[in-house]
Amino acid sequence: MSNLLEELSETTAFLREKGVEEVEFGLILGSGLGELADEIKGAVKISFSDVPHFPVSTVVGHAGQLVYGTLSGKKVLAMQGRFHYYEGHSMQTVTYPVRVMAALGAHSIVVTNAAGGVNESFEPGDLMLITDHINYTGDNPLIGENLEEFGPRFPDMSHAYDKEYGEMAHAAASRLGLHLQEGVYMGYSGPTYETPAEIRMSRTLGASAVGMSTVAEVIVAVHSGMRVLGISCITNLAAGMQSSLNHEEVVETTSRIKETFKTLVKETLKEI
Ligand code: HPA
Repeated sequence: MSNLLEELSETTAFLREKGVEEVEFGLILGSGLGELADEIKGAVKISFSDVPHFPVSTVVGHAGQLVYGTLSGKKVLAMQGRFHYYEGHSMQTVTYPVRVMAALGAHSIVVTNAAGGVNESFEPGDLMLITDHINYTGDNPLIGENLEEFGPRFPDMSHAYDKEYGEMAHAAASRLGLHLQEGVYMGYSGPTYETPAEIRMSRTLGASAVGMSTVAEVIVAVHSGMRVLGISCITNLAAGMQSSLNHEEVVETTSRIKETFKTLVKETLKEI
């Protein structure tokens, strides 16, 4: 585990050398939402494959690079693409970039994802503010030795998603004249989509959306003392709520709403 400290210092030294200076916000851009990073000014781009101790992302539709620069007047380090548990990475590996963001000084993180809508009033193309999550992956990135330098052994998850950031996102949405849904995100391991029975269970348990990412990253962000803003792009109705599910629909929906998504995140960031 103390290896982690050494690895982090190698990674951050490398990124500093590449021109990554002050970082205020980490950004994790999910499936089809990576284009937001193209709007970062004075961008320094670093391929994941060049970053020491980063694994290689294998998912189609994920560009796989870090982009550092200024967005809405904030110093951001964005991930265009992320690492998923279903790729076979450990949760520690999936969340390593969040540790890196924290080590570079980020006080906040914006996590985004594509998700299936469980709430019956949602429609594909809706954006949802994540107000809380259910970690249904069966794993946790903090299992194992705890490094007190990073955070407490038993982190409090009562306020994982920052209430004030959520209010700012809603205010930004109403300024832009768009409806922002809100709800609980339930994280599954994937890579299968859920069964209709699992979706009925998710709804009974209080979930509004389901997906295969985010919960591990948010756990590590909270452990690191970061404030979290989470936004899901509802790309489809979850299993059993439409005839069948496929990745093409996820890609199509994200490309349809990515402009709105980008505008919402930029407008929210301006206010923070
Ligand atoms: N389930 C899980 N992950 C997803 C979905 C879904 O329906 N849509 C996009 N990501």
